[in-house]
Amino acid sequence: MRKDQKRTAEPDHPAGRPAGGRDLAITLTRGAGPLHRQLEDALRAAIRDGRLTAGEPLPATRTLAADLDVSRGVVVEAYAQLVAEAVLQTVPGGGTRVGDRPAAHARAARPADPLTTPRYDLRPFVPELSAFPRRAWIDATARALRGMTDAQLALPHPTGDAGVRATLARYSGRARGVRAHADDVVVTSGSMQSIRLVGELLRRRAERVGAAPAIAVEAPGFPLHRLSLEREGLRAVSVPADAGGLRVDALPDGGVDAVLVTPAHQFPLGGELSAERRAALIGWATTHDAIVIEDDYDGEYRYAGDTPTALQADEPDRVVYLATASKTLATALRLGWMVVPPALRSELAEAKLWADGGSSALVQQTLAALVVSGAYDRHVRRSRDRYRRRRGRLLDALAVTMPDARTVGAEAGLHLTLRLPDDVAVARIWTAAADESVALMAIDVGADEASGGDDHQLAGPVLLVGFGNLPDALVDDAAAALGRIVTAARSRPY
Ligand SMILES: Cc1ncc(COP(=O)(O)O)c(C=O)c1O
Repeated sequence: MRKDQKRTAEPDHPAGRPAGGRDLAITLTRGAGPLHRQLEDALRAAIRDGRLTAGEPLPATRTLAADLDVSRGVVVEAYAQLVAEAVLQTVPGGGTRVGDRPAAHARAARPADPLTTPRYDLRPFVPELSAFPRRAWIDATARALRGMTDAQLALPHPTGDAGVRATLARYSGRARGVRAHADDVVVTSGSMQSIRLVGELLRRRAERVGAAPAIAVEAPGFPLHRLSLEREGLRAVSVPADAGGLRVDALPDGGVDAVLVTPAHQFPLGGELSAERRAALIGWATTHDAIVIEDDYDGEYRYAGDTPTALQADEPDRVVYLATASKTLATALRLGWMVVPPALRSELAEAKLWADGGSSALVQQTLAALVVSGAYDRHVRRSRDRYRRRRGRLLDALAVTMPDARTVGAEAGLHLTLRLPDDVAVARIWTAAADESVALMAIDVGADEASGGDDHQLAGPVLLVGFGNLPDALVDDAAAALGRIVTAARSRPY
């Protein structure tokens, strides 16, 4: 090594590293002062910056010395100095770790974010996170990994593993009535990505003929989907939704390439598209040669009446069906799939390839293993029963604490939609909810948005009460808090 050459502990020789060896990004410069001092300073800096935190084990002296290409004595001396200062501690039985209170000037812990740790989490799209089937997921991961060949650990197929796609096609067919073959399935990182990929396809197709791409979206609808389509360069055309779902009669007579719709449980108003509206929607799409994107985000959860089958089954050549594990398992998995018409397959496969090279092979194999073993269905069934009971209790409690609210869309999904009295100001709901540490969603539904027939009228202040992530024991307290919030948001509270 030259005199001024840098010595960096980078992971440059993974093979042969002793067990317990941990990589530390530290650089020593020969000729810039004693090496043990440099190492001390580097460790102090890493602790001060929060890169090494209290209690974290440090590499063995021999390992770090080899990584830095210095003698072991350099590391021993640096560790000893920092132990003397109580910056580091020795561990009984050998080893060294960062001290419990490593430095007075270490970065202060971040205060809990009141938005991510509210007293009541009533956001409409969060499932019961504490019910995530950890044991079943771990077992399915082990089974998936044992079943995977070495070759399957290379770059995944862009649309997903063929076996996984076959499993998901069968599941969507069985549970949601989707008409699907393995070749029609594209595994994605969730509905958000699925929608963005379809948006990209629509943009590219429009560009090829020099047109400006546009898509009809429900208003109100899921704001992130609209934003992501707009980011993709599409013009989003609002079409009103009411308590019966998308107002199909208000779809534009041309000028859009597609429509994004939530037929089983309109987000956020909760309506289910009637057989007449479904037929009219397919008729409209056929007349205008448009694609229908069916966002089946919570189709597994229906508590009353027949579960509507997926719209896709009515016209598989025109409907792109979107499924997600975000509501059945956990949003954090970032896992979903779409069932696509044959004419869109290759373009969507290419879009997915360039988006991220394909979804994680292990995660999709794990989901498939969960489905094949029956654990996925059992989990969905148990969740549905729990949600059904909780929803009943919540409705009872809200009838007492919010007698003036009208509930719609309670037959399905993970949230209730409450039409509040006219004198409630939505902005004041947000403020009052923050004061009560309640995470929720409230919207002002415009008159032009929800102007269906009398049965379907919803225009005005609307509160969305998610109950997926609300512990049963807190239902009554949360309903009481909601009552206070709405009272505080009224201009004539008494
Ligand atoms: C209407 C709607 N669609 C889809 C999703 C899920 O998107 P993703 O699968 O990307 O998590 C959500 C909620 O989070 C939603 O509310």
